[in-house]
Amino acid sequence: MSNSTKRTVLVTGATGGLGTAMCKKLYKEGFKVVGNYHTKEKADKWIEQMKSEGFDIKLFYGDVSDFDSAGEMIKKIEAEVGTIDTLVNNAGITRDGRLINMKKDDWYAVINTNLNSVFNCTKHVIQGMIDRNFGRIINISSVNGQRGQFGQTNYSAAKAGMHGFTKSLSIEVAKYGVTVNTISPGYIGTDMVMAVPEKVLNQIVAQIPIGRLGGTHEVAHLVSFLASEETSFITGANYSINGGQHVY
Ligand code: CAA
Repeated sequence: MSNSTKRTVLVTGATGGLGTAMCKKLYKEGFKVVGNYHTKEKADKWIEQMKSEGFDIKLFYGDVSDFDSAGEMIKKIEAEVGTIDTLVNNAGITRDGRLINMKKDDWYAVINTNLNSVFNCTKHVIQGMIDRNFGRIINISSVNGQRGQFGQTNYSAAKAGMHGFTKSLSIEVAKYGVTVNTISPGYIGTDMVMAVPEKVLNQIVAQIPIGRLGGTHEVAHLVSFLASEETSFITGANYSINGGQHVY
């Protein structure tokens, strides 16, 4: 089966920098793309922008940090669009700060949005993928889950946890045609990264051998590769895409 037979892909956190690039790339590759959003105002603007650029991509509301909200969203997508063949767990936030200053809410918000969301969404699609003998789960982690980063105990813990989830689930579902992989981007030119204080960001860029931030299209390309039919023997892997910032 080729992508033009319209496999359905759900991208969580679709309206963010990485999510938007992923939606566009997957759409261009022939997938039926649906996105998840959390903030209505941002979603309305996004839909309008996508339409003006020629992309027909529906967005569905869901708070992926909440199990029931994620479940309701997926039920709605399956009723209105069709069963989900590929899930890209992309939604994520930062609440940076040294542990010494970190509030309880900053810890839980990041763990719930970045890690518990992976359980909340995957749990609602995995049985269908097993039954249909095809599925792709793609978890968007971070270089800062592979190594530590000053000011990110919450984020690093969540992102490292995502790959632990990938490794275990990949073994559980391998024989059903379902692959589970992680992508660990480095510093990409999104609003999230641009929010890092300029002085700190300059120091970070100086540690990237390629000498620049990554482009969202570069991560999107890797997502579309892993979503394709041909990657059926790749599972439990963690793809680094960080300009050489962290090699090991
Ligand atoms: N290593 C060691 N010490 C450091 C340090 C580092 N990297 N950065 C700062 N320090 C030291 C400072 O020199 C300072 O020491 P003194 O008190 O002795 O002078 C002390 O730590 C406090 O520094 P700050 O005043 O900067 O601390 P702060 O609490 O105000 O700010 C911070 C801390 C908010 C974490 C800020 O450093 C920061 O924003 N860092 C960037 C974190 C980051 O990379 N986030 C990535 C966001 S994007 C993303 O997450 C996407 C992705 O996947 C890559």
